Amino acid sequence: MTTTLEQSVGAPVARIEGVAKVCGQARYAAEYPLPGLAYGSVVASRIARGRIRRVDADAALGMPGVLAVLDYRSAPRLRDIGDNEAMQFQDDVVHYRGQAVALVVAQTLEQARAAADALPVEYDAEPHDVLLSASHPKLYRPDHVNPADEADTLKGDVEAALARSPVIVDSEYSTPAEHNNPMEPHAATVYWDAGRLIAYDSNQGAARIHQALAGLFGLEPSAVQVLSEHVGGGFGAKGAIRLPVIAAAMAALVTGRPVRVVLTRQQLFSMVGYRTPTLHRVRLGADADGTLVAVDHLVCTQTSTVLEFAEQAAVYARVMYATPNLRTRHRIAALDVPTPRWMRGPGEAPGAFAIESAMDELAAAAGIDPVELRIRNDPDVTPDSGLPFSSRSVVECLRKGAGQFGWASRDPRPGVRRDGRWLVGSGVASGTYPANTAPSTASATAEADGSYTVRITASDVGTGARTALTQVAADELRVPLDRVKVLIGNSDYGPAMIAAGSMGTASWSFAVVSACRALTGLLDAGAQRPVEARSNTAGELGGRAKLARYSFGAQFAEVRVDTDTGEVRVSRLLGVFAAGRIVNPRTARSQLIGGMTWGLSMALLEESVLDQAYGDYANHDFAGYHIPVHADVPPIEADWVDEADDQLNPSGVKGIGEVCIVGSAAAIANAVWHATGIRQRQLPIRPDRVLMGGGPGLPDTADISPVRGTRSPAR
Ligand code: MOS
Repeated sequence: MTTTLEQSVGAPVARIEGVAKVCGQARYAAEYPLPGLAYGSVVASRIARGRIRRVDADAALGMPGVLAVLDYRSAPRLRDIGDNEAMQFQDDVVHYRGQAVALVVAQTLEQARAAADALPVEYDAEPHDVLLSASHPKLYRPDHVNPADEADTLKGDVEAALARSPVIVDSEYSTPAEHNNPMEPHAATVYWDAGRLIAYDSNQGAARIHQALAGLFGLEPSAVQVLSEHVGGGFGAKGAIRLPVIAAAMAALVTGRPVRVVLTRQQLFSMVGYRTPTLHRVRLGADADGTLVAVDHLVCTQTSTVLEFAEQAAVYARVMYATPNLRTRHRIAALDVPTPRWMRGPGEAPGAFAIESAMDELAAAAGIDPVELRIRNDPDVTPDSGLPFSSRSVVECLRKGAGQFGWASRDPRPGVRRDGRWLVGSGVASGTYPANTAPSTASATAEADGSYTVRITASDVGTGARTALTQVAADELRVPLDRVKVLIGNSDYGPAMIAAGSMGTASWSFAVVSACRALTGLLDAGAQRPVEARSNTAGELGGRAKLARYSFGAQFAEVRVDTDTGEVRVSRLLGVFAAGRIVNPRTARSQLIGGMTWGLSMALLEESVLDQAYGDYANHDFAGYHIPVHADVPPIEADWVDEADDQLNPSGVKGIGEVCIVGSAAAIANAVWHATGIRQRQLPIRPDRVLMGGGPGLPDTADISPVRGTRSPAR
């Protein structure tokens, strides 16, 4: 029998679970009904530093419905798994305001919250230190930056090269603390089944949570199951084990009942990570024709006293532009603040704001078109390591984007296009993010009825991963899409990469293809259904060629700036990306537009405002923490260039989840400069900053002066 089979990869397949989601049938972690379910409510510290003197559990236990109070004395002991953030309720030390200090468990959610609100907690407070500055005495060089990169790199002699450069840019930039805020808050529903810990949990990878839970509670891996079939966003905040599943497991152990713990929106602002504020000094030196001869990037960020998270905000310059002299440095200070962690595009997103803004300043200083400047400085090999790229299509992205955007007709002069009250301008920025592939396992089963089942502990946080993996499996098995069922989000399926670092689909598709290939081999050899094949890509990834693997992009923005109010409206935003093979253009476009929307948000709106006296960020909800609504977002266009890269994984997938937020903020800031002639070096670009001319803003970044200066060639 011969059939013509349409290839699934590359087709705009609708999300497989889409109907279930919009009908409310898809269950999230806090939606599983269990008999006898109890509810936990978290109590947060009201001091930023000190010790818990006393928790008056009896006061809460006397309230209606209360079953238990867990605090640092009464909570079950946990084993150290090397993640201090997981050591919940283990000692009396308060590291930051908003740290979990107790869990109240009750018959109903309302009873739990009432008792948690009323729980008397006494503290011995100590003075706190929560304000990051570029001259903070606690700044130090970390051993490495996230995930495992060098803190500092140096090639050539940056100072000498800057001294003889006819064109220099020497500027300081800053981005504020920003909070992830996935639509679904962190949540878990947990029960113990004859000694086995079963957890419905909202996370970016059930395998990682499974491993952490087994470690924390001293259980055999087979005695833990984590189920995460549907997840309402993560963006880095759900990349590690978080309080709800730990607290619910403890409470279920203590009460003998299933327990659900859901963080409130307010609690997300202190308990699950955020993007550190970043303070940058960038120095660029160039020849008169704009050819870079020196790049120097220094970044200061914060971490907590709980664990060291060093945001890799200076790694962008190691990849992006050719230069014989290159220095990148990271400094961090451990403050009495919640622990910053991953937030979409960690490192590159704030780093690119600085470097891509500086490149725009260089273009202006040298009198060169900003697109042309980037093309002129595009490297043949990785600038810091000298490694060849597996593929690099930045120039193609810039050219295609410039064509679609109508860049050629742009008047380079800033501040000259008026439309009534509005000044109009356009800007460009490039972007990149690593395209790595991590070991994963999968299984593929040929069922007796002729269908196929693929199992992998993948996580679909809203990206469309389940759909993409089904497409990949169908092609490998040479069957139509509806003959394949991909089951994900269950730790029983074995170890797998988490949905993070833009590595999900790249890593999982490798394991899925390998399992399907093995299964096809068995069937071709005459195996009888049902039959299963398994894969583990750890071995295959070990012997790969040493190459620099990155996704790239270029973004173009048009803005309108109200000269009376300082309001910035983005009127057009276009992104063109190079990310290997695009498995599903529909879900890919959606994800790219989502990232660019977040980039717009980063540029104009998002800012966690530090209250130094309280030692905490003051805006803890969507009234005070601004994110864009529909009216703030123009029709965004996301496109890509074809890229066949056989040095990645069998699917040729690079990953798109993060490259799409890298560069958007700089493109918008550069457009604001083009509109107004005023450089915005601090995010977000608030109306007051527009009206004040981009000068120093709130005290959270007071140590950053607006600019150190530029030098232009005589013309
Ligand atoms: Mo993503 S911020 O690497 O989870």
